[in-house]
Amino acid sequence: MAIKVKNNVHWIGKVDWELRRFHGDELSTHHGSTYNSYLIKEEKTVLIDTVWAPFSQEFMRELPKEIALKKIDAVIINHAEVDHSGALYDLMRHIPGVPVYCTPNGVKSLQGHYHQDWNFHPVRTGDTLDIGNGKKLVFVEAAMLHWPDTMFTYLTGDNILFSNDAFGQHLATDRLFADLVDPAILQEEEIKYFANILAPWSRQIDAKLKELMQLNLPIEMICTSHGACWRKDIDQVIAKYAAWANAYQENRVTIAYDSMWGGTRAMAEAIARGIRLADNTVEIAVHSLAKSDKNDVMTDIFRSKALLLGSPSHNKCVLASVGATLEELRGLAFKGKKAAAFGCYGWSGEAQVRLTALLKEVGFEVVDEGIKGLWAPDGSALDACVEYGKAFAKKIGKGGA
Ligand code: FEO
Repeated sequence: MAIKVKNNVHWIGKVDWELRRFHGDELSTHHGSTYNSYLIKEEKTVLIDTVWAPFSQEFMRELPKEIALKKIDAVIINHAEVDHSGALYDLMRHIPGVPVYCTPNGVKSLQGHYHQDWNFHPVRTGDTLDIGNGKKLVFVEAAMLHWPDTMFTYLTGDNILFSNDAFGQHLATDRLFADLVDPAILQEEEIKYFANILAPWSRQIDAKLKELMQLNLPIEMICTSHGACWRKDIDQVIAKYAAWANAYQENRVTIAYDSMWGGTRAMAEAIARGIRLADNTVEIAVHSLAKSDKNDVMTDIFRSKALLLGSPSHNKCVLASVGATLEELRGLAFKGKKAAAFGCYGWSGEAQVRLTALLKEVGFEVVDEGIKGLWAPDGSALDACVEYGKAFAKKIGKGGA
């Protein structure tokens, strides 16, 4: 069912209430998602993006209720990933000659996915498409937000920025606008989206936001490709992205560990007590990497000024969940965070040394050599962890952004 966005612009996407895993099984989506497609009916009729492939047939059933397919004059594909281009193949079977506007990398990506030689019109930043009634679409390349092919499309007159993945959230809602949805869930999904999907491209995001400002386009609305759209406080929405893209941190510490028989867990909790004793203002998040949702852990680390990562020594290495966490952190490339390692051991105790080296390798500023606990730490050994927590809190300093 179409939802009016503004004037002659309507949302014609799909709300996916069921979705709980995205990008295969890589990303958790606790609150579902949406695949936002937009129909603009001016003198020319333009479709911006489609929906994920499993909903292609449904999309193709619904779209003709809004517009006779033969009346579509142009298709804009802001990003070729299949959650947005998934209905394109079925659509183009009905309108094979209609121009498809995308970036040059978009052409490569769409051809790579669908192996079709559609009527591609590659566009660059500043290129425009006149759609009549005094309005035009302005294209803005946005490479690595978050794929090389990504672009934004700006609609003059209505002053809408169609931003694709940027500014989105995995959040199923039929309310369309951010000011109509639960603000706590919105905020949670918004920062999770940035931390887990966009953070690796922070440098490009920062540059793109500056470029967008220099283009001086009045933006009254940001229409995303996932979740809610923004029509209020646009400056704050953009400012939030600028902050997240610049070594973001809050007054928060994440302690993440895995444990075989509870020793490393006991150390984690003792270290947390020590941090609390030294600083009663800092937020402390403690996660078992075997039990917590991976993407929630990454979001907490993204929000933190420091990470304490723990594993017992196991076969001279770290536990698999901890190794996977480090690989994830390598990819997400968070900036400006301090860290240290901890863990218990029985005989030679390689894990904590290995963790210390790996934390440095994936970009953390390691503040000390961390702490080891022999066998099952109790009594004085846990007291030492409390003292370590106090010392760690002093090293990372009080306060935060
Ligand atoms: Fe929502 Fe990059 O696709």
